[in-house]
Amino acid sequence: MGTAKLTLDGQVLELPTVVGTEDEVGIDISKLRKETGAITLDYGYGNTGSCESAITFIDGEKGILRYRGYAIEELAEQATFAEVCYLLIHGELPERSQLDAFVQKLTYHSMIHEDMKKLFEGFPPTAHPMAVLSSMIVSLATYYPHANENVDLNIMRLLAKAPTLAAISYKKSIGQPVVYPRNDLSYTANFLHMMFAVPAEEYTVSPVLDRALNLLLVLHADHEQNCSTSTVRMVGSSDANLYASIAGGVCALWGPLHGGANQRVMEMLARIYEDGNDYRKYVDKAKDRNDPFRLMGFGHRVYKNFDPRAKILKRVADEVLDELGIDNPLLDIAKNLERVALEDEYFIERKLYPNVDFYSGIIYSAMGIPTRFFTVLFALGRLPGWIAQWKEGRDSPKTRINRPRQIYTGPKLRPYVPLDRRG
Ligand code: CMC
Repeated sequence: MGTAKLTLDGQVLELPTVVGTEDEVGIDISKLRKETGAITLDYGYGNTGSCESAITFIDGEKGILRYRGYAIEELAEQATFAEVCYLLIHGELPERSQLDAFVQKLTYHSMIHEDMKKLFEGFPPTAHPMAVLSSMIVSLATYYPHANENVDLNIMRLLAKAPTLAAISYKKSIGQPVVYPRNDLSYTANFLHMMFAVPAEEYTVSPVLDRALNLLLVLHADHEQNCSTSTVRMVGSSDANLYASIAGGVCALWGPLHGGANQRVMEMLARIYEDGNDYRKYVDKAKDRNDPFRLMGFGHRVYKNFDPRAKILKRVADEVLDELGIDNPLLDIAKNLERVALEDEYFIERKLYPNVDFYSGIIYSAMGIPTRFFTVLFALGRLPGWIAQWKEGRDSPKTRINRPRQIYTGPKLRPYVPLDRRG
């Protein structure tokens, strides 16, 4: 691939190109401002590459998602979440001994400092679990203040403790005693145990739920430079510590246009159900420019054909509900909404398809996860991706502090008017 030429007020600038492994082309404009004084303006960064990355590949036109070269469909079918964490963070699938050592660390770092439990007492029971999760993750930096000096150890601490923190926040919100992690259980089974076991009662982790949770976490594990991941890289670029950077990512994920959409999808489906199941009315509302309503769980900045994660989840939602013998009318509403929207000119023209958040909530519900807690599950899944991206940014010699420019549109210089003369 050759160079690109930019002409600005008669000045011609040759810009080098960068070509990725999958033939994606980027025009390197690093010298643009120095040479011309101009900057680029790209609202929402739809055309801007912020880094080179070897972690995740997406082809939005073809509906392709790969972690480190492995197809999401194969990983979802065959890999454990622990393997995927290792793959994303270390770049290769682990050999048996590497995986055993990794899982051992994931297990033995799962306990939190006992004093941390007191922090939970400061939150009202109504606190949104994403606010609690983000606070608790950044609070880990107070217990491990030198996180950036021993990065690998702190990565394992974070991965191991995050499910414990999430489960404690759930238990606190419903007034139940905290359930401690168990070292004989897998990462996913242990999380379900901490969430749903009640002291003095027998609790056995359902293999159906365990499998479903593993799949959900794998499907959410990374998604290249999305809003929360870019936030993590942004915070990390100032050399902020791992916990601070990831807490920033949790906050970004919380928004309803991003991971928070999974909560909103479920609320939307419940609203349609309560409103007499008239899903066509809601498709019309979503199309109406004067109505702020959007079909939650629909549309994606990158996927313009289908979201491969949504395709898998639609099938798995059916399977899980079948296996558990649950009949959830919201699943039928979701399918009807999808069918009607996909036949509608508005959605076809704009290439709007169900995204990962459209069917995930149906499965979380079947698992007994409350709606307000859905985005926490997304965060637990995304953790290895954020960590891998944070580490890649930190280790790359090309990383500088992330500092975009702007086009100023405010007033020009004007004299200060003292208060008594302002009327
Ligand atoms: N319902 C109705 N219209 C929509 C929707 C929707 N869900 N999404 C996009 N549009 C329309 C939008 O109004 C615009 O129409 P027009 O060109 O006439 O103005 C056009 O489609 C393009 O939309 P956009 O907002 O410019 O697209 P974007 O790439 O900036 O936003 C999005 C992507 C995901 C934020 C958006 O599709 C959306 O708000 N979807 C609903 C929220 C959601 O499900 N988010 C989860 C995303 S996937 C998981 C994740 O990232 O965490």
